[in-house]
Amino acid sequence: MMKRLCTLLGLAAAILATSTARAADFKVGLSLPTQREERWVKDKQVMEAEAKKAGIDLRVQVTDNDAAKQVAQCENLISQGVKVLILAPHDASSAAVIIDKAAKAGIRVISYDRLVTNSPLDYYYLSFDNVKVGELQGEFITRKVPKGSYIVLAGSPTDNNAKLFREGAMKFIKPLADKGDIKIVMDQFVKDWQPSEAQKLCEQALTANQNKVDAVLAPNDGTAGGCIQALAAQGLAGKVPITGQDAELAGAIRIVQGTQSMTIFKDTRELGKRAIQMALELANGKPIDTQGRTVNNGKKDVPSVLLTPFIVTKDNLDEQLIKSGYLTREKVYRK
Ligand code: GAL
Repeated sequence: MMKRLCTLLGLAAAILATSTARAADFKVGLSLPTQREERWVKDKQVMEAEAKKAGIDLRVQVTDNDAAKQVAQCENLISQGVKVLILAPHDASSAAVIIDKAAKAGIRVISYDRLVTNSPLDYYYLSFDNVKVGELQGEFITRKVPKGSYIVLAGSPTDNNAKLFREGAMKFIKPLADKGDIKIVMDQFVKDWQPSEAQKLCEQALTANQNKVDAVLAPNDGTAGGCIQALAAQGLAGKVPITGQDAELAGAIRIVQGTQSMTIFKDTRELGKRAIQMALELANGKPIDTQGRTVNNGKKDVPSVLLTPFIVTKDNLDEQLIKSGYLTREKVYRK
């Protein structure tokens, strides 16, 4: 009787040992599009710290806005035997081939912040509510400038987020444009989110309209910085309301100085933490609680976890960015 009991206990222990993937021998791949924007630097730092805490062997690759290189880097991560791949694509649709390759190798994928599009396969999407980001920008700028000439910029055409942000903002801008209250003098996507590209586009629009521009929809703080350079050259910085996103230090400083009107706070600490948590759950074969939310990728509705974005203006910057520890008072209010 005793002998039988020991055998059973031994068996239970063995099953337990194998079923819970011990973190030590558990590799996760992290493929990021760039480190040029401050938020991606924070995403990487947070995930590295969280992975370390969980004892996960995190293998990181950054592609610097090169889609082909990202495919090669992910092939490399797959060959290293990662169990889960956290993927923020540079090019949404060409990254679908990475999902294929991962699926063939039995690797689970989390599409991080940016959605991989046009894949029929199973994967998860973890991001912020990006249409809401655009709605917050569009509502803010149309309240501030209900009538006048608008420069409308969107992010990189290869980034699905750029489309979602624009979709949200246009819910507020288009009806006023249709009514003739707003005249859109420029409506362009910005290659690779480059601030210098945004500056060039703004300069073109200012020249073409004899500086008669009343508002700028800039999709993130980086491109807003480029536009504000163009406005400053015409003595218009601080006079033309302009949006932003990402709560970058430079963006927060411009808001305090009055040359940028707002930004969107997306707490990348929360997103990074959630990604490592989800990777652990997937590696342990656990389902992810998406509360039924999905985002369509052009081929299917991808189960999604979407965090909440917050608007930041001069009035609540301390509350949102300083008290939360995302930025420091010394750096934002530097003399
Ligand atoms: C987007 C991201 C933004 C932004 C941009 C540029 O996908 O959601 O936060 O900064 O990329 O990297």
